[in-house]
Amino acid sequence: MEPGDWEALEVAAEAVSRNAYEPHSGLHVGAALRGRGGRVYRGCNVENASLGLTICAERAALFHAIAEGEREFDGLVIYTPDREPLSPCGACRQVLIELAPDLHIISIGRGGKRAEFELRELLPHAFGLPPRSRGEQENAR
Ligand code: THU
Repeated sequence: MEPGDWEALEVAAEAVSRNAYEPHSGLHVGAALRGRGGRVYRGCNVENASLGLTICAERAALFHAIAEGEREFDGLVIYTPDREPLSPCGACRQVLIELAPDLHIISIGRGGKRAEFELRELLPHAFGLPPRSRGEQENAR
């Protein structure tokens, strides 16, 4: 990725953080995920009174990308104006690593403070299933 590509992700993550639905925490989070071809997929946190149903910005962005047919990713920017730069929660790490194992992440917090991560370093020894054999796939149809 070029520096301009990261800037575009930062702009997208900041913009979408304004759409956060956050009546329970007050935390606005935006995520912008870049597909290999250059398309940018945005997500924000969507909270619920049944708190465990809340979805984080990172998974919202990833699920949107998958629904649009994207399968390969090369960068993620997370943005919040409310706190120190966030590091993605354990659930998001697990979901991201299955679909974007080589992801580089920039997180931007209050006052523009930044942190950078490699997803692999955030989730060593990640759980994964072995690919299903052809016979199993046919039986499942
Ligand atoms: N949240 C995210 O969207 N991403 C993170 O990386 C951490 C947490 C959201 C979920 C919830 O709406 C609020 O922040 C507080 O946990």
